Amino acid sequence: MSNETLKRSVMEALSAVVHPHTGDDVVASGHVQKLEVEEGGRVRFSFLLRTEDPGALIKHARTAAEGVEGVNEVKVNVRLPQAGASPQAESSPSGRSGGGGLKPGSVPAPTPRPGLLSQVDHVVAVSSGKGGVGKSMVATNLAAALAAEGLRVGLLDADIYGPNIPRMFGESRRPRVTGEKGKEMIEPLEAHGVRLMSLGFLLEDEQPAIMRGPLIAGILKQFLEQVEWGPLDLMVVDMPPGTGDAQLSLVQTIDLDGAIMVSTSQAVATGDVRRGVKMFEKVNTPVLGVVENMSGYTCGECGAEVDIFGSGGAERLAREMGLEFLGAIPLDPAIRKAGDAGRPTVISAPDSPAGGALRTMAQKVFTILHASDAGVPA
Ligand SMILES: Nc1ncnc2c1ncn2[C@@H]1O[C@H](COP(=O)(O)OP(=O)(O)OP(=O)(O)O)[C@@H](O)[C@H]1O
Ligand SMILES: [Mg+2]
Repeated sequence: MSNETLKRSVMEALSAVVHPHTGDDVVASGHVQKLEVEEGGRVRFSFLLRTEDPGALIKHARTAAEGVEGVNEVKVNVRLPQAGASPQAESSPSGRSGGGGLKPGSVPAPTPRPGLLSQVDHVVAVSSGKGGVGKSMVATNLAAALAAEGLRVGLLDADIYGPNIPRMFGESRRPRVTGEKGKEMIEPLEAHGVRLMSLGFLLEDEQPAIMRGPLIAGILKQFLEQVEWGPLDLMVVDMPPGTGDAQLSLVQTIDLDGAIMVSTSQAVATGDVRRGVKMFEKVNTPVLGVVENMSGYTCGECGAEVDIFGSGGAERLAREMGLEFLGAIPLDPAIRKAGDAGRPTVISAPDSPAGGALRTMAQKVFTILHASDAGVPA
């Protein structure tokens, strides 16, 4: 088959991919650009991902192209509408641990991970300098939002001291252990379409876990190696609070693509976010962006805007440090209730202001990660 014929078939297959909101096919709508077919059935095209587009659209397009007879490889170069949304992405260096050249905000290109995580496309940590600012909430909604869009998502609860993920996903079963003695594997539990692993599933009744850094890193290593995650588009890691040695040894254990920093506006003043960014710099892990949580509160009774923890501080800091701003999540009692009830806000109230902000945040993270794949040599 000639390259031209193959190109036509791929174009046809892509025309069958329809945008869920507009109903237009992704070729007609201009999402697919610069389709090229090379020898050996190698297909590449650019995909223009606008903020309002579901990230899963890229996956559908890729799957459609892969399904065409004669296609052996598909490379998708994700483009963002406005230059500057992720400026470093296209010129990012290849190689995950390129040794010092990475600045926060740049994203290394994926190279296969060793062991089981070779099947995981991207690994992202959700971190903060200060405790209680909403890391687990952000990690939960990030994972659930992308899973709801059809991506294969895992969530690893690395908060060994106070694992909250089981509660936030309403999951209290024990994971199954399979395989013969000495080669046991743990099956992750699945809730809201997300594959989950947490020490909380293995502990009796929320007994406190008092452990030192190296031991924690050991448990985490087991979670990476002995849990059957299977193929994932994204693994989210919910980090314990802080920037000390225990956290550092955690980020050294996991091969991260990047980190998301969560902060309240008020917490910015304490310098914790900067310390967090520094910690990731130390291990050459780019910070993908900053989320401001508990940002402003609208009184449910009177509708008045009340600035309980202030607002805008994390956004200003992100700009100052040259980091992406991933959005401001309002303080909303429904978020806490959703967490306590095990129904992530993006699922229980996707169209509320908080649900919308969380979904947009997830979208941005996904877009930044995919933009990082752009320009990677085949
Ligand atoms: N925007 C918000 N509005 C209302 N409640 C929130 C919001 N964000 C988080 N919460 C609630 O605040 C509490 C703390 O959030 P969360 O557990 O996600 O913080 P954390 O940073 O993971 O804490 P830790 O440092 O202890 O791990 C939870 O009960 C959560 O449901
Ligand atoms: Mg937490």
